[in-house]
Amino acid sequence: MKTVRKAIIPAAGFGTRFLPATKAMPKEMLPIVDKPTIQYIVEEAVRSGIEDIIIVTGRSKRAIEDHFDKSEELELFLKERNKGRLLSIVEDVAQLANIHYVRQKEPLGLGHAVWCARKFIGSEPFAVLLGDMLVDSDKPCLKQLLDVYAERQAPIIAVETVAWEETSKYGIVGGVELDDRLLRIERLVEKPPSNPLSNAAIIGRYVLEPSVFDRLETTPRGAGGEIQLTDALQQLASCETMYAYRIEGKLYDVGDKMGFLKATVELACKDADLQAPFLAFLKYRFGSGEGGGMR
Ligand code: G1P
Repeated sequence: MKTVRKAIIPAAGFGTRFLPATKAMPKEMLPIVDKPTIQYIVEEAVRSGIEDIIIVTGRSKRAIEDHFDKSEELELFLKERNKGRLLSIVEDVAQLANIHYVRQKEPLGLGHAVWCARKFIGSEPFAVLLGDMLVDSDKPCLKQLLDVYAERQAPIIAVETVAWEETSKYGIVGGVELDDRLLRIERLVEKPPSNPLSNAAIIGRYVLEPSVFDRLETTPRGAGGEIQLTDALQQLASCETMYAYRIEGKLYDVGDKMGFLKATVELACKDADLQAPFLAFLKYRFGSGEGGGMR
């Protein structure tokens, strides 16, 4: 039985949707309440049982490495001032997981970023987590996939049902519904401009096997002129069994300003210290209107 111990987190994109904030700062460091988005992703991987993480970085991404590193000066500063709670928060970040880094030297797309981590993965199955999607759920999103992987021993991709008019923003999978949540994949298409196969959208969590690296090697540029992971998976799906799983949880597309704001407001409303004053402020300022949806 193959178990999954390693994960890849691609973090080399420019983050153009958040310019100018991302001109000199990685988009993965933008905080939701008080934690960089990439920390939520690393925590999800760790809570799912992942031991080793490789972050694929690019230019101007030093802040990510510094964030997960030990900070002697800051720890000393907090110790001397008896700031015990903050000290443990800072120490914990540096001890979350074994984090490794590799650079994607050219911005050739998600498929290429994943391929850059192939030597670290070797011959084991592995997870991929994209930083643009946060999932708030009791059972971590990746753990939901890993439980299905343990049973099926075949690659599995997390999906969520989206509005039909949103399908052109995502990788879309089509296949045979095995139950309420599980599909056997027949086809995948990256950002279909029209006539989508279905409205089951890839939401940035994957459990894959190393065979995908050979496919990535020869995958031509696809949507957006980039080497797409979805295209490599489409090639694999024609000869290997692969599943999609409709995950349980609340999804936030934090790569998008609206999704980022929704995550900020909703996670602030769940924060032990902020909950009462923040809810009181929202009520005072906006009344108790309803509204929502994923995006
Ligand atoms: C990537 C994937 C796409 C997926 C999306 C989820 O696209 O290529 O299949 O649906 O992430 O966020 P990106 O948003 O990086 O263009």
